[in-house]
Amino acid sequence: MSETQLLPETDALIDGLRSRRSGHNFDPDTDLDDETLEELVLDATYAPSSFNLQPWEFVAVQDDDRLDELVDIANGQEHIADTGTAVLVAGHTEPKTADRVFEEWVEAGRVDAETAEGMKEATVEGYEGERAGRDYAIRNASLAAQNLLLAAHARGLTATPMTGFDFEAAAEFVDLPEDTIPVMLIAVGPSAGDEPERLPRRDVDEVLHRETV
Ligand SMILES: Cc1cc2nc3c(=O)[nH]c(=O)nc-3n(C[C@H](O)[C@H](O)[C@H](O)COP(=O)(O)O)c2cc1C
Repeated sequence: MSETQLLPETDALIDGLRSRRSGHNFDPDTDLDDETLEELVLDATYAPSSFNLQPWEFVAVQDDDRLDELVDIANGQEHIADTGTAVLVAGHTEPKTADRVFEEWVEAGRVDAETAEGMKEATVEGYEGERAGRDYAIRNASLAAQNLLLAAHARGLTATPMTGFDFEAAAEFVDLPEDTIPVMLIAVGPSAGDEPERLPRRDVDEVLHRETV
């Protein structure tokens, strides 16, 4: 790629995504401040989502006793208590933001009202079926979770995504409504230092397929 096609921030972005780690070495004595938490969630909301539905919620657990309970829900993963902050990223299994979002498509002049109505109907239909809503929830919220991980890394914080927890218990623990499921639990906070060497990645030659697998 020629130099002129690169963004000014390309190097920093690529370095950042390649140096991100799922860290476990959290500083138990320092907590995330509120402003940083809000910034991280703001960054997460810049993730792409189907039709811009933004079908996600972020539940920050910071109370010490509740973090201890969350450790139990997460199979004894103690680093959750060390972080001081665990964010449950949850996804909607129903397109419950559709009315508002498709209105915004029209208000922004992106489509006319009739087209937006068609898009909305197609979206609602797309969520029908046994697994569709769950799949959408996981796809959309996972992208938001990755944004949060990268944003934490960019701010010099440590963050680890986790699915090693009891999903039903976690949903109950934070009072998720029926149409919203836990997708990723993220322990995030100031680092206490080095992490072990990164585990190897599969080679591009092995994972990149051309036309068919
Ligand atoms: C879907 C998913 C579930 C994960 N669950 C856990 C978990 O429960 N506990 C944990 O410590 N790390 C968990 N991880 C982190 C992985 O272990 C980590 O991403 C992997 O070892 C690669 O390391 P890296 O992220 O530092 O490159 C999870 C990661 C993903 C994507």
